[in-house]
Amino acid sequence: MLNQAVKAAITAVGSYVPKETLTNQDLERMVDTSDEWIQSRTGIVQRHIAKNPLHPTSYLAIEAAKNLIQKKNVDPSSIDLVLVATITPDMNIAATAPYVATQIGASNAFAFDLQAACSGFLYGMSVASAYIRSGQYKKILLIGADKMSSIVDYSDRKTCVIFGDGAGAVLMEKSTNGFGYENDFLRSDGSGREFLYMKSGGSLHPINATTFAEGGHYLKQEGRTVFKYAVQNMSLAAKEVMKKNNLTSESIDYLVPHQANQRILEATRKNIGIEDKKVLMNIQKYGNTTAATLPLVLADYESTFKAGDKILFAAFGGGFTWGAAYLTWNYDQST
Ligand code: ACO
Repeated sequence: MLNQAVKAAITAVGSYVPKETLTNQDLERMVDTSDEWIQSRTGIVQRHIAKNPLHPTSYLAIEAAKNLIQKKNVDPSSIDLVLVATITPDMNIAATAPYVATQIGASNAFAFDLQAACSGFLYGMSVASAYIRSGQYKKILLIGADKMSSIVDYSDRKTCVIFGDGAGAVLMEKSTNGFGYENDFLRSDGSGREFLYMKSGGSLHPINATTFAEGGHYLKQEGRTVFKYAVQNMSLAAKEVMKKNNLTSESIDYLVPHQANQRILEATRKNIGIEDKKVLMNIQKYGNTTAATLPLVLADYESTFKAGDKILFAAFGGGFTWGAAYLTWNYDQST
């Protein structure tokens, strides 16, 4: 039984993006596209790309975790669980999270990966919140990290302009002031996997010369279909959470949506009826970093948030997976 009186709160945030950028002008030289097309269709101006082959997803996650640990002065040995949401693990086996935990000195933690594509961080907050409310674990480091450049085909203009690399981390602990993770509405629909997938490398299509020649190791998506489902389901989930918590578009302080595409965010915003200025965005700088977008928004806007701010999250991703969550922010950065 979950203890309704206990709430999990985000008590610290960290982030990391690689130094190297890939601009729309760079992409103009690689595929048949234009800065004008990319900006008007997606809102993206540049993305950060980890060009160093020795910097896989674990590296991004470790750097984001270190940033958080240093900012909040956390003792890594006090962390109970390291949860890494990612679709680009370093390897299929072993998982990325145990490596991250060891590298940051989380010597008393168990660790596992969570694969829910762009909804990974949202699902992760729900898992972390439930563990904390149950009293089973006290300190959870939740990281959303993706090196999308490792699975993007840079000759496919339909996908390569969208994605970037990055990582964001949050610490979730028991709330001591009543503010924290309230509740969520999470869903999935496996029939969506034909519209957004990486075909080979799993047990259905093990990698061989044929799958390799077909480019089965690259991410593929039917953009228009995904777009439609993303808007519909992010809007529906957000409305469910608003209803559950008696929230109105006026009472919500911020909408933190998965940074998929500026037009998806705009359509979702309109469906929910939230004012433009309440929608937090950084897609122009980073592109779609999959599991990292939500914590990267939290990191970029951390200094703006005040204790008690009402934040609505919404995400949609491969699987399909989607959902929304309601959280009251726990702290002022200055105090
Ligand atoms: N530059 C120029 N033209 C392009 C480009 C490009 N980079 N990409 C596609 N086009 C062309 C297409 O070929 C098409 O031309 P045609 O009409 O002659 O066939 C035209 O532009 C329109 O193509 P659409 O695919 O309809 O373009 P759309 O406006 O839908 O934008 C996009 C494409 C950006 C991919 C959009 O559909 C989208 O954002 N989809 C959702 C992405 C998403 O949210 N994914 C989920 C999360 S990701 C995850 O979980 C891993």
